[in-house]
Amino acid sequence: MRRTEPLRALVRETRLEPGALILPLFVCPGEGVRKEIASMPGVFNLSVDQAVKEAEAAAALGIGGLLLFGLPETKDEQATGAWADDGIVQRGLRALKKSGAAKKLVVMADVCLCEYTSHGHCGIVKRTQNPAGEEYEVENDSSLRLLAKTAVSLARAGADVVAPSDMMDGRVAAIRDALDEGGLEQTPILSYAAKFASAFYGPFREAADSAPQFGDRRSYQMDGANVREAMREIDLDLAEGADMILMKPAMPYLDVIRAARERLDVPIGAYQVSGEYSMLQAAFARGWLEPQRAMLESLVAIRRAGAGFIVTYFAQEAAKVVS
Ligand code: PBG
Repeated sequence: MRRTEPLRALVRETRLEPGALILPLFVCPGEGVRKEIASMPGVFNLSVDQAVKEAEAAAALGIGGLLLFGLPETKDEQATGAWADDGIVQRGLRALKKSGAAKKLVVMADVCLCEYTSHGHCGIVKRTQNPAGEEYEVENDSSLRLLAKTAVSLARAGADVVAPSDMMDGRVAAIRDALDEGGLEQTPILSYAAKFASAFYGPFREAADSAPQFGDRRSYQMDGANVREAMREIDLDLAEGADMILMKPAMPYLDVIRAARERLDVPIGAYQVSGEYSMLQAAFARGWLEPQRAMLESLVAIRRAGAGFIVTYFAQEAAKVVS
C-alpha cells in the first residue's frame, strides 16, 4: 500500500488543507512598511496597507483565517493601545473589512496587553517596595476589565473572533459578559486555554516587541510539566463561555493536544509558535533539513495529535504545497 503516491494518498489518515491554516499578522504603524523580523525569516511587521495585501494573498491561497497582533506607536501601564478605538489592530481590522479578502477569511484578533504595556506583561502590574527591593505582581482581577474592553473594541472594529492569550483567570467570562453587553453576542471566543510558559515564544517577542522588561510570565502562563492542569484550564474556559480552544505551543506539547481532543468535542486549534518556526528556518538556512518535507511533517504531526486547525507562520508556504 506504500508503493505509489496514489496508493499512499488513498490510505492517508491525516490531511492538511489550506482552510485549516491560520496566518498570524503583525500590524505596525506607517505606510508601505514591510519589515522582516530578523529571527523569523519570511515573517514581517506590516503597516495596515501591507497587511491588507498580505490578507488578499492569503485569501487567494484558500487559507482559513488570520490572527492579528499589533505594534502600537506608544506603550503605557494601562495598555491604552490595546483597547483604543484607533489602536493599530483596530485600524487594521477596519481596513481589512473594507477589502474583499476579509469575506473569505476568519479574521481573528489576539486579545492581550503585553504588546501595549510599557513593562511588557500581559496584565496590570502592581509594584510594592520592601526592604529587599522592589517586587511586583501581575494583578489578575484588575487586568480583566482592560482585557474585556480590548475584546469589545476589537470585535467592534470587525474581528470575527476574539482570542484571549493573556492567561488571567476569569477572562473568558469577563470578555463574554462585556461582548454581550456591547451587543456583540455573535462574536465567538477562541481561548488560548492551555498556554504554557515557553522558551519557544522568544522570536515572537522580537516580532511583537513584547518581551517583559522584568521578571517572566511564569506566574500566569502554565508550567510545561502539567497536563492535568491543562485539562482543568480548558474546562474552566469552556464553562466560562469559550467557543473554541487553542493549545500552545504545539510540537513540544502534542500529548496535551491529544489529551484535549480525547476529552472534548469543541473545536481545537494549536499554535505552532515562533520558536518552532524559527528553529526549522535556522536548520533550513544551514541545509540541515529539507524545508518542504520538514515543514509538512511538523504540521501533519499537529493535526494527527488532534488539532482541527493550526496557527502557523508557514500558512502561506504550506497552502501553496497542499492546495
Ligand atoms: C501574547 C502572545 C504571545 C504569543 C502569542 N500571544 C507571547 C507571549 O505570551 O509571550 C506567542 C506566539 C509565538 O511565539 O509565535 N501574550
